[in-house]
Amino acid sequence: MSDLFLRACRGEPVERLPVWIMRQAGRYLPEYRAIRAEVDFLTLCKTPELAAEVTVQPVDRIGVDAAILFADILLPLEAMGARLVFAKGDGPTFPEPVRRREDLARLARPDVPATLGYVFDAMREVRRRLDGRVPAIGFAGTPWTLAAYLVEGRGSKQFPHLAAWSYRDPEGLAELLDRIAEVTVDYLAGQVEAGAEALQLFDSWGGLLSAERWRELAAPPLRRAIAGVRERAPDVPLIYFVQGGPHLLEAVAELPVEVLSVDWRLPLSEVRRRVEAVPAGRGKVLQGNLDPGVLLGPVDEIERRTARMIEEGRGGGHVANLGHGISKETPPEHAAAFVEAVKRLSARG
Ligand code: CP3
Repeated sequence: MSDLFLRACRGEPVERLPVWIMRQAGRYLPEYRAIRAEVDFLTLCKTPELAAEVTVQPVDRIGVDAAILFADILLPLEAMGARLVFAKGDGPTFPEPVRRREDLARLARPDVPATLGYVFDAMREVRRRLDGRVPAIGFAGTPWTLAAYLVEGRGSKQFPHLAAWSYRDPEGLAELLDRIAEVTVDYLAGQVEAGAEALQLFDSWGGLLSAERWRELAAPPLRRAIAGVRERAPDVPLIYFVQGGPHLLEAVAELPVEVLSVDWRLPLSEVRRRVEAVPAGRGKVLQGNLDPGVLLGPVDEIERRTARMIEEGRGGGHVANLGHGISKETPPEHAAAFVEAVKRLSARG
């Protein structure tokens, strides 16, 4: 029974750093690819036995200290009535994107247990299979990042339709963000009821915005979602992940979350300095931030870079992770070498 990860999230003293990997259940693992050869991605997400199986695979294979539920941030948008398609090699798409206020009529306020109950069933099965070995993490996208996908219809570099709507009709876009935030509260609270012991919010596209626009557009619905989750699950640690957002550090340090998860673009010592300079940022735990590209290099380089990351993270709470999702080209032994290096090099004698 290990609660190392949860203790670290709460800023309690730990005997070594906990470590897990974003996208740890995924295509770099042959045992994941074997299951994906049989079922498509959405079927995998919607079959609790299979979703639980791939969730636990990296715990068994590479020894991570937490299991993140296998699902996708886009599933609640599908539950709201948006058609979601994962085409082969194309990433996720919404063939009928939501791009103006009138389009909001196409979105429903879903009965979350009825439409997303398969995620909760998978979480219950994950807890059963883990049997206390490591904690289980639930997750959701932030309202801004989900809206980015739904408005654009797909991933993008500049998200032109999203930008257009945000300047043409900010109140209309704010309504979309609020609707997503409401569903997110039910979705995250449901995951906790089903057994999630920590929750991560993925703001993969928060970094598109300037700090001023992030505060104006992205932060209000995100804060509503966080407040709603806190009301229903007061004791569950919250992790906020932002990608490409070094310019947002002072803004995100104000969020009422325990853990800030950051990418590799700045060393953790500098992240810590800037986060601690904000009153609400004091005592926040940092998560991250090895460049996922490092795991494509040789094992001795992985060890050197991991040692440096651990050094950079000293001076406050730290959960070791990558700065973004693991690439599908990563040899599983390299992922295991990263995990092993964190365990060995961070142990306090
Ligand atoms: O971390 C985990 O192991 C848990 C599962 C998980 C997945 N997606 C599985 C997945 C999590 C936490 C996510 C979050 C997610 N999904 C994010 C936020 C994190 C980030 O990367 O910034 C985003 C933006 C998405 C949307 C999404 N889903 C994209 C862009 C893609 C295509 C990615 C690609 O590399 O093709 C997906 C599909 C997806 N989600 C896969 C996995 C394992 C690959 C699907 C496959 O098996 O083909």
